[in-house]
Amino acid sequence: MMHGGLILKIDLSGILYASLQTSKKKFEQAKTKGDIEEARKFATECANTERKLATETPDQKKAHMNNAAKWDEIAKGVKFVQKKAIVEKGGNDKDEEDDFSGFGETLIETSTVTWKDIGGLAETKNLIMETVVIAGLSKPESIKPDKGILFFGPPGTGKTLLAAAAAGSLKATFFNVKVSSLLSKYFGESTKLITALYESARKHAPSIVFIDELDSITMSREDDQSDASRKTLTTLLAELDGFQDKKSDKLILTLAATNMPDKLDDAVLSRFPKRIYIQLPDRKACQEIIRIQTKGLDISKVDLDKIGDMCVNQKYSGRDLQNVCRDAMNSMTHRVNKEIFDNIDKMAELPFEELQKKTLKAGPLFMEDFMQAIARIKSPLTPADLKRQDDWNKQFGAS
Ligand SMILES: Nc1ncnc2c1ncn2[C@@H]1O[C@H](COP(=O)(O)OP(=O)(O)OP(=O)(O)O)[C@@H](O)[C@H]1O
Ligand SMILES: [Mg+2]
Repeated sequence: MMHGGLILKIDLSGILYASLQTSKKKFEQAKTKGDIEEARKFATECANTERKLATETPDQKKAHMNNAAKWDEIAKGVKFVQKKAIVEKGGNDKDEEDDFSGFGETLIETSTVTWKDIGGLAETKNLIMETVVIAGLSKPESIKPDKGILFFGPPGTGKTLLAAAAAGSLKATFFNVKVSSLLSKYFGESTKLITALYESARKHAPSIVFIDELDSITMSREDDQSDASRKTLTTLLAELDGFQDKKSDKLILTLAATNMPDKLDDAVLSRFPKRIYIQLPDRKACQEIIRIQTKGLDISKVDLDKIGDMCVNQKYSGRDLQNVCRDAMNSMTHRVNKEIFDNIDKMAELPFEELQKKTLKAGPLFMEDFMQAIARIKSPLTPADLKRQDDWNKQFGAS
């Protein structure tokens, strides 16, 4: 099979970059023309070229694979719109929204997260539980539970986790929507998609609709996307006002999240009278999060009071704490599995089925594991970031 002789390594990346530019341009043209079939074709071409670039340029493999995934998503989105076009051509005179009805279903996620997986945030958990209970109980007509709750605060503090836990604990259908991708992917169709989303949510009630990056839709911004954004927002606000399901006693709770509350319009804010500041964890919450993240391991030798204080001083978020725990666990794993890590190149050559027969041991975690981790992991937040959140909370936060 192998022939001796020269192996020519040809650098294809230049050609690939050029071809990517052409495909991108053609994609944009097709999109502007509204030619869905063409747009999808060129989005797929872009994805394929990005994948080839990933192989050609190993040092940028990750970036190109990410781009490829993005183009795949875009191509999928186009396909979805295309379905509608075909239905129309076929002379089907169903409601327009019907053609988008499948969209809501695509946003359904299964959540196995429960309240126990969240450290701290007791008041917020309680507020969500109360809202859900009030919604469920028979009650006088004038008592209305909140339809939406807004979470704001620095990144990594558990906003997404709260929404997932609400859905997981209630066994509710969980719709996870990122506003930015809704606006960018579907070429001005996002209004219908919001309608379809809430239609699905009603159909599968009880439902938790989680709207992430709420700040990316606004009324006031003056740019290319502003028109689509405005229309989308108007539809969303109408859904939150609940014109459509006044009589319904189904639970559809919208939880929205943002890291940039100061970017929100008044129109949005007025629909979310409950604006909950999800802050960095305090000492006790840090300890709870560490316990959750190291579940099943022996941490009896760790002085959690001391570590808790250090984590507060470091201004760690839940996400940072997760990283600290991972780092500490990594040190422990290396310590107690020396025979594996000293021979890692031999181990890596084993067939995967052989690896699965072996066990990675776990031992106790020590103070030193955490001290090292804390020295390595830095919070990305600046004092100014936190001050912005605090200031906004003082002025607009409300529970
Ligand atoms: N209160 C918490 N309890 C337990 N784990 C937490 C907590 N907060 C964050 N984490 C850990 O950090 C990860 C990230 O949290 P999450 O995605 O909920 O943050 P977020 O507030 O939505 O951040 P972003 O604003 O960046 O979207 C979680 O998956 C979880 O592992
Ligand atoms: Mg999040």
